[in-house]
Amino acid sequence: MIQVEGLTKYYGNFKAIDSLSFYIDAGEVVGFLGPNGAGKTTTMRILTGFMPPNEGTATIAGYDVLDQPLEARQRVGYLPESVPLYKEMTVWQYVDYVAKLYNMRNPIRANRVDEVLDQVGMIDRADSLISSLSKGMRQRVGLAQALVHEPDVLVLDEPTIGLDPGQVREFRELIQQVGKEHTVLLSTHILSEVEQVCDRVLIIHNGQIVAEDRPDALSARLQGSHRFKVKVGNAKPEAIAEVIGGLPGVINVTSTDDGVEVLSEEEQDTRPAVAAAIVGKKWDLLELRPLDMSLEEIFLELTTNDRQTYEEEG
Ligand SMILES: Nc1ncnc2c1ncn2[C@@H]1O[C@H](COP(=O)(O)OP(=O)(O)OP(=O)(O)O)[C@@H](O)[C@H]1O
Ligand SMILES: [Mg+2]
Repeated sequence: MIQVEGLTKYYGNFKAIDSLSFYIDAGEVVGFLGPNGAGKTTTMRILTGFMPPNEGTATIAGYDVLDQPLEARQRVGYLPESVPLYKEMTVWQYVDYVAKLYNMRNPIRANRVDEVLDQVGMIDRADSLISSLSKGMRQRVGLAQALVHEPDVLVLDEPTIGLDPGQVREFRELIQQVGKEHTVLLSTHILSEVEQVCDRVLIIHNGQIVAEDRPDALSARLQGSHRFKVKVGNAKPEAIAEVIGGLPGVINVTSTDDGVEVLSEEEQDTRPAVAAAIVGKKWDLLELRPLDMSLEEIFLELTTNDRQTYEEEG
């Protein structure tokens, strides 16, 4: 449904994406996971016909985005990073306006606007001004305008960014719903988001795809590394570091303002030994908490340990 081959884009001399190739099957919900500046938006703008690539090809439902732009655009709905919503329009007027841009005619158009607003849970706000909506509601309207022309493919660029936790949950549920009937490419820099929503994840870093996996397999791979924080009531970080640093399996201990961070060998849980050592010193153990990996650390891990495996697997 989406086929990308050797896609490369330069901004001036800067190569933002570097011969990207991937394929997304009809009905798949695929996560595009990468840190800031990885090239997610650039790729999505090419796929949705907003920008030409310098090299390579991209097709949507068999239509080349460069050679058959109208056919390709008709089959893709796009929720950009920031949706250009017209604040002085009502929700209904805005979605109707977008539908007109796709040459939809009445009475089909009006019915379709109602239908899509119902689908995204905004039908009861159809007559509200866009300026009066919360961020979460605006994202729903953004999704409605992406869906209104009944595209096969949906491209969603960081759709939950800036929403509060409740809105994030609701919007993810909506994406899951929509994903049952569409092929979806969704970008994010949140690992848990792809776990919840996606069938497959493409990991992009510095304009290249560095790994591809099922989200559960990806999480399993990353769980091997143990990093945790230890906070002790009545000892100095240097003293703690000295005691913990000598334990088997502990690779490194770094002092922080309010405790220490411990890095231990993969597949060796050193937490019980660390706790015992602290209690044995009659210090108060206030906190022993796993530290989440930052995306940068995840990429480092994937690109240094697993890239080879991935390439071997082909
Ligand atoms: N219009 C532009 N002119 C020059 N450089 C750009 C332009 N747009 C993007 N870039 C650069 O290209 C690279 C990729 O940007 P892109 O916006 O595709 O990344 P992204 O993965 O979407 O990042 P983010 O998570 O921050 O949205 C970045 O280094 C960015 O600074
Ligand atoms: Mg972006």
